[in-house]
Amino acid sequence: MGAASLFLKPFVVRSALIQLIRQARLGSYPFRLSIGAVPRPSYGYVVYHAARLARRLGYDRISVIEFGVAGGRGLLNLEYHAREVEKLLPLSIDLYGFDTGAGLPRPADYRDLPYLWREGFFRMDAAALRAELGRAKLVLGDVADTAARFFREYDPAPIAAVIHDFDFYSSTAAALAMFDAEEKYFLPRVHCYFDDITGTETSLYNDYTGERLAIREFNRAHPHKKLSAAYHLLARKIVQPWYHQIFIYHDFLHRRYNDFVSEEDPQIPLR
Ligand SMILES: C[S@@+](CC[C@H](N)C(=O)[O-])C[C@H]1O[C@@H](n2cnc3c(N)ncnc32)[C@H](O)[C@@H]1O
Repeated sequence: MGAASLFLKPFVVRSALIQLIRQARLGSYPFRLSIGAVPRPSYGYVVYHAARLARRLGYDRISVIEFGVAGGRGLLNLEYHAREVEKLLPLSIDLYGFDTGAGLPRPADYRDLPYLWREGFFRMDAAALRAELGRAKLVLGDVADTAARFFREYDPAPIAAVIHDFDFYSSTAAALAMFDAEEKYFLPRVHCYFDDITGTETSLYNDYTGERLAIREFNRAHPHKKLSAAYHLLARKIVQPWYHQIFIYHDFLHRRYNDFVSEEDPQIPLR
C-alpha cells in the first residue's frame, strides 16, 4: 500500500506507543495483552481467556490446539503465551500442533481455494522444529486421519482454545468435526481463532468457500453446538482487525455449560 497506508492507518501515535511497550516489555503481561503489546495478540487472547474460563470452572489442566503449524512460528508463540499464563493462573496448559508435516495437501475443489493455495506450500522441517519446541506435541499426518486417532492416543486434557490455520475448507471441516468427540474433551465454551476469514483483495474470503464455509456448515449441522462471532470484542470502541477472527464455540448441552461463572450477587438498588 506504500504511502496510502499513512492515510489509512488510524492512531499512529498510539500504535507507536504499543510497539514501544511490546519491545521493552513495559508493564504486566495482562496489561500488555489487553493493549495488544505482545507477539500475536490473537493467540495470546484465546490462551489467556480460555485459561481464565477454565479456572472459573475449576479445571487445573487444559489443552490448546493449533491446526496448521507450517514452520512452527505459531506453535512457538503459543508456548510463550502458555508460559506467561501459567505464571498468573494455577493451571497447566498442554499444546498440540496438527500438520501434515509436508505442507498443504492438494486442494480438493474450489472450496479449498486453489486460486490461492498450492500443494506443498508451508512445508515443515520437523526435526528443526522439534529441537526448538518445549512442551508442544506435533500430531503429524492428514487431519482426516489424525483427528480420529488423537483422542485415543493422547487422551488430552479438556480443549479450551483452538487456532484454526489450515487454510482449506476440507481440512478445517475435518478439524471442526473433532467437536463431535466426547464432551469431557472440551470446555463448554472454547475460544477459537480463524486465520483465513478476512484476507485481502486476492483471497476474497467469503461464506461459500474456505474456513468460513466450514464454520457455516458446522453450525448448520449442529443444532446445539455453534461457533459464534465474539460480539464483546466487535463492540469495543477501538476494533482490531483480528477481533473479526475470534469465534467462541458453544456446546449448549455440555454438562458444565450452565455453571455460574459471573460476578456473585450483583445488586442495582433503587437509590
Ligand atoms: C498457513 S500454514 C500454518 C501457519 C502457522 N499456523 C503459522 O502461523 O506459522 C497451513 C498449514 O496447514 C497444514 N494443513 C492444511 N491442510 C491439512 C490437513 N488436511 N492435514 C494436516 N495439515 C494440514 C499445512 O501443512 C500447512 O503447514
